[in-house]
Amino acid sequence: MGSSPSSSSVVFAVLFLVLNAPVLCHGGKTSSFVRKVEKTVDMPLDSDVFRVPPGNNAPQQVHITQGDHVGKAVIVSWVTANEPGSKKVIYWSENSEQKEEANSKVYTYKFYNYTSGYIHHCTIRNLEFNTKYYYVVGVGHTERKFWLTTPPAVGPDVPYTFGLIGDLGQSYDSNTTLTHYEKNPTKGQAVLFVGDLSYADNYPNHDNVRWDTWGRFVERSVAYQPWIWTAGNHEIDFAPEIGETKPFKPFTHRYHVPYRASQSTAPFWYSIKRASAYIIVLSSYSAYGKYTPQYKWLEEELPKVNRSETPWLIVLMHSPWYNSYNYHYMEGETMRVMYERWFVQYKVDVVFAGHVHAYERSERISNIAYNIVNGKCVPVRDQTAPVYITIGDGGNLEGLATNMTYPQPEYSAYREASFGHAIFDIKNRTHAYYGWHRNQDGYAVEADTMWFYNRYWHPVDDSTNSEP
Ligand SMILES: *[C@@H]1O[C@H](CO)[C@@H](O)[C@H](O)[C@H]1NC(C)=O
Ligand SMILES: *[C@@H]1O[C@H](CO)[C@@H](O)[C@H](O)[C@H]1NC(C)=O
Ligand SMILES: *[C@@H]1O[C@H](CO)[C@@H](O)[C@H](O)[C@H]1NC(C)=O
Ligand SMILES: *[C@@H]1O[C@H](CO)[C@@H](O)[C@H](O)[C@H]1NC(C)=O
Ligand SMILES: *[C@@H]1O[C@H](CO)[C@@H](O)[C@H](O)[C@H]1NC(C)=O
Repeated sequence: MGSSPSSSSVVFAVLFLVLNAPVLCHGGKTSSFVRKVEKTVDMPLDSDVFRVPPGNNAPQQVHITQGDHVGKAVIVSWVTANEPGSKKVIYWSENSEQKEEANSKVYTYKFYNYTSGYIHHCTIRNLEFNTKYYYVVGVGHTERKFWLTTPPAVGPDVPYTFGLIGDLGQSYDSNTTLTHYEKNPTKGQAVLFVGDLSYADNYPNHDNVRWDTWGRFVERSVAYQPWIWTAGNHEIDFAPEIGETKPFKPFTHRYHVPYRASQSTAPFWYSIKRASAYIIVLSSYSAYGKYTPQYKWLEEELPKVNRSETPWLIVLMHSPWYNSYNYHYMEGETMRVMYERWFVQYKVDVVFAGHVHAYERSERISNIAYNIVNGKCVPVRDQTAPVYITIGDGGNLEGLATNMTYPQPEYSAYREASFGHAIFDIKNRTHAYYGWHRNQDGYAVEADTMWFYNRYWHPVDDSTNSEP
């Protein structure tokens, strides 16, 4: 482009753009960012992040999650390789010299020709809110010390910062994602993990050694802040060809969640309150049709959410309902048909899902008018509906989903095939700041952002694209 265009051609070009705006503005933005093209490969077994901690029978794979409905309890879990070792957790608050003790229960399981180590789960109860605690495991033998901070008491204007990670796996890219989450200047206080943890099932016989390596890899974060678990398809580990017919066996032995505290009858769907958020975890891989346990639970659960106490209603699931990539296309559709009207009725603020190895954020839309005969089966803008975010871009060995549907659907606000993580930063009952970070950028750079206005307290239009 050597010569400058004449003024008449500029006017023409502008006119052309204006006249064609409705045609050009099909959907939102498809980022043209040039993503990493190298193959995604798992870190080898002798990688630094998989190192077994020194000392005989040292506790490894230490991880914590919320242990009750409100955040006064925590489940501390760890694995010992050779023998059960001490069941004790010794813990004390930063402000006190008084040491307390709690005991774990120990589990083992076999999977084909793999035998697990001794998996300890210990629920510590009656903690003070908003307090730093130290805790020690491996008591009296090879002791390891960690710390955690309990959330503030549940309340409507309590700020709280959630990290969002999905489909993490254990590749070099997974390590980059975790590093970016840790180095993000906006510090996440807990991770909402939308499923697909280790990807051990991609190995021959679902080599459960890769569950152990994953546990050691993420310990550097999850031993210090709770990760809230959602079951993904890579947690199913259903392998009848090798005699393994009990779904979710490794996952349920290794990762305990406080499902009973929300009257759930299975660890795949449950809820917690944390600060000003009410978080509902659903299972894309458990029955969700009418009359099923999950359906009945959710039907009773949604009316219990008191937005005066917890203004922010967040739902986690693995398989997205709104996904405009050519991967896992429409896999979430049957669950959407069952539950979407409830999400609109109860004004869910945001739904986070994984499964598709890329990033996408929707407008506030719903598709609930259809009744078989009226033909109304297209998503429409709906300010009472949630925003749907796919954050399955943790970086697992299966690589990026790069193949998108065209044109970009109108409901899709932003999509990009890059690895990354996100932060949902609740400021008060009306405002939350959301940012998605791609791994190729500096730690502080946000590639997609949005101010969320709470659907109950401040239900004004918060869309980032103007109505077409
Ligand atoms: C399990 O079996 C596979 C092959 O079937 C073999 O390569 C592996 O070494 C075995 N692992 C153990 C712990 O026996
Ligand atoms: C993983 O990331 C950490 C922190 O950035 C780094 O110290 C470590 O060397 C990385 N390991 C591998 C195998 O990439
Ligand atoms: C909802 O929470 C508020 C604030 O904690 C409380 O005052 C109110 O009684 C609760 N409503 C119900 C129906 O429990
Ligand atoms: C993208 O997905 C579509 C639909 O599944 C398929 O027809 C097409 O071949 C794919 N393109 C590439 C480059 O894989
Ligand atoms: C809530 O947070 C937003 C964003 O920080 C701020 O602009 C607003 O004034 C806050 N509302 C109240 C009532 O403090």
